[in-house]
Amino acid sequence: MFSKQILPVLAAAAGIASAASSSSSTCKQTTFTINSQADISALASCTTLTGNVVIGNQTDATLDFSGIDEIDGDLTLLNNNLVSTLKSSSTTSITGAFHLQNLTTLSTLSFTELTSVGSINWVSLTALDVLTFTAGIKTASSIIVSDTFLSSLDGLDVESADTININNNRRLVSYTSSLGNVTDLLNINANGLDLQVSFPDLVWIANMTISNVSSFSVPSLQTVNGSMRFDSNFFESFSAPNLTSTTSGDISFVSNAELTNITVPQLTSIGGGFLIANNTAINKINGFNKLKTVGGAINMRGNFTDIELPALSDVKGAFDIVSTGDISSSCATFKKLAPSSSGGNGDIQGQYTCESNNAEANSDTNPTSTGSSSGSSSTGTSGNGNAAAGISVNSLAVLGLAGVAVIAQML
Ligand SMILES: *[C@@H]1O[C@H](CO)[C@@H](O)[C@H](O)[C@H]1NC(C)=O
Ligand SMILES: *[C@@H]1O[C@H](CO)[C@@H](O)[C@H](O)[C@H]1NC(C)=O
Ligand SMILES: *[C@@H]1O[C@H](CO)[C@@H](O)[C@H](O)[C@H]1NC(C)=O
Ligand SMILES: *[C@@H]1O[C@H](CO)[C@@H](O)[C@H](O)[C@H]1NC(C)=O
Ligand SMILES: *[C@@H]1O[C@H](CO)[C@@H](O)[C@H](O)[C@H]1NC(C)=O
Ligand SMILES: *[C@@H]1O[C@H](CO)[C@@H](O)[C@H](O)[C@H]1NC(C)=O
Ligand SMILES: *[C@@H]1O[C@H](CO)[C@@H](O)[C@H](O)[C@H]1NC(C)=O
Ligand SMILES: *[C@@H]1O[C@H](CO)[C@@H](O)[C@H](O)[C@H]1NC(C)=O
Ligand SMILES: *[C@@H]1O[C@H](CO)[C@@H](O)[C@H](O)[C@H]1NC(C)=O
Ligand SMILES: *[C@@H]1O[C@H](CO)[C@@H](O)[C@H](O)[C@H]1NC(C)=O
Repeated sequence: MFSKQILPVLAAAAGIASAASSSSSTCKQTTFTINSQADISALASCTTLTGNVVIGNQTDATLDFSGIDEIDGDLTLLNNNLVSTLKSSSTTSITGAFHLQNLTTLSTLSFTELTSVGSINWVSLTALDVLTFTAGIKTASSIIVSDTFLSSLDGLDVESADTININNNRRLVSYTSSLGNVTDLLNINANGLDLQVSFPDLVWIANMTISNVSSFSVPSLQTVNGSMRFDSNFFESFSAPNLTSTTSGDISFVSNAELTNITVPQLTSIGGGFLIANNTAINKINGFNKLKTVGGAINMRGNFTDIELPALSDVKGAFDIVSTGDISSSCATFKKLAPSSSGGNGDIQGQYTCESNNAEANSDTNPTSTGSSSGSSSTGTSGNGNAAAGISVNSLAVLGLAGVAVIAQML
């Protein structure tokens, strides 16, 4: 594989890499330590570095890796308040982690030819306001961008990833990506207050938690394999025109203050629970006309006047609806589906509650208790009675506002 590889013994003994004078050569060391442009120049004859590149914390202000086409290892730069420019006009690939953290002076990050990275961990880059990735990163298994000064993520455009976590980028106003699928988790929270998110090509996603965004567009989304949760967003409407199912997880909308319209017209089945709570602007739930099966509980609490789930015929968990307004005509319809002990046909297998005119309807955003004066438990007799169980409170805390330090420690 390394036909032109230079023996590491010599290089290591000399403390620098040496290389043949051919046009393409691989230099191999366990670690390439870089503190200055001179350290990079000493690698001038290496087009590929096999080993981890570690940049120190007492460096030149500008570090230019042009000439090195490939890093077969990690590129790490941490805790440095001297570097302002990190760049390369020739590096196309970094196979390991591209890890930048706690760099308060880095303002230029320019890798114009870079298209493939093992993973991206960029945390606490508080002076970084623009990315210059002209070719664009098309491949990275995970992307974490946290606590930067970026207003756009243009240049990070992978088609598939296991994890994408974009949080605490207070100036971020737009994130558009041609992502087709996410195999583990997409988290977006605590970014700019007018963040518009658009994933026109996203077809399936495992878990997602979306908070504090102004718009969220997923026109092609068909399947949520895990859970999808929307908390404290600023959008007025949400639609997922092609979403047909969540295979095992929940759908939750909690405390989205401006939301008036949720439309998921093709959704037939939710594997877990279905929670809509404290979205006080929404009066009608009428965008789920094909929803038939819910594997967990249905919990809806809010300022509703009308709730329509015309195709509903199988709810494994509890059914618990509480409104500040009068929903007696919706309740009359749902009562027919209640367990036989409550006078219905048994399509709903868990505890049945449907209550109008409860001023406290919005005070309970927890899927497991009813929040109603009846005090009855909504825990289902089977299935996943705990509607939001798919994404634990702990994992939300880790990813949430307190997340920067915690994530930093996790890296
Ligand atoms: C800078 O790097 C040196 C050598 O790795 C390390 O001992 C020191 O703790 C680092 N300083 C900071 C502030 O991270
Ligand atoms: C960030 O880096 C600076 C040196 O630039 C260091 O003094 C500080 O302790 C680092 N902060 C953290 C949280 O590691
Ligand atoms: C994931 O998305 C990428 C890009 O759209 C696509 O090429 C790939 O086939 C998808 N994988 C699966 C399993 O759907
Ligand atoms: C952002 O969302 C979180 C929930 O994930 C919420 O606690 C917080 O209040 C929201 N912040 C704003 C400014 O809406
Ligand atoms: C939605 O699904 C239909 C039928 O599967 C398909 O023809 C259409 O292209 C999809 N729309 C988008 C935006 O993916
Ligand atoms: C998610 O569901 C889609 C569509 O059923 C499937 O193609 C994909 O492999 C699933 N992904 C995971 C991680 O199970
Ligand atoms: C979604 O997250 C839950 C809880 O962390 C996990 O159990 C589940 O396996 C995830 N689903 C997928 C498809 O990754
Ligand atoms: C309900 O949402 C509002 C924002 O619209 C928020 O201030 C309040 O804390 C939320 N209530 C609960 C119980 O989460
Ligand atoms: C709700 O949103 C759907 C889809 O975006 C749209 O067709 C419908 O007209 C909206 N309804 C209201 C009342 O705004
Ligand atoms: C929702 O209902 C509560 C309790 O009745 C009320 O205080 C609040 O003003 C209502 N919100 C809206 C947006 O109607």
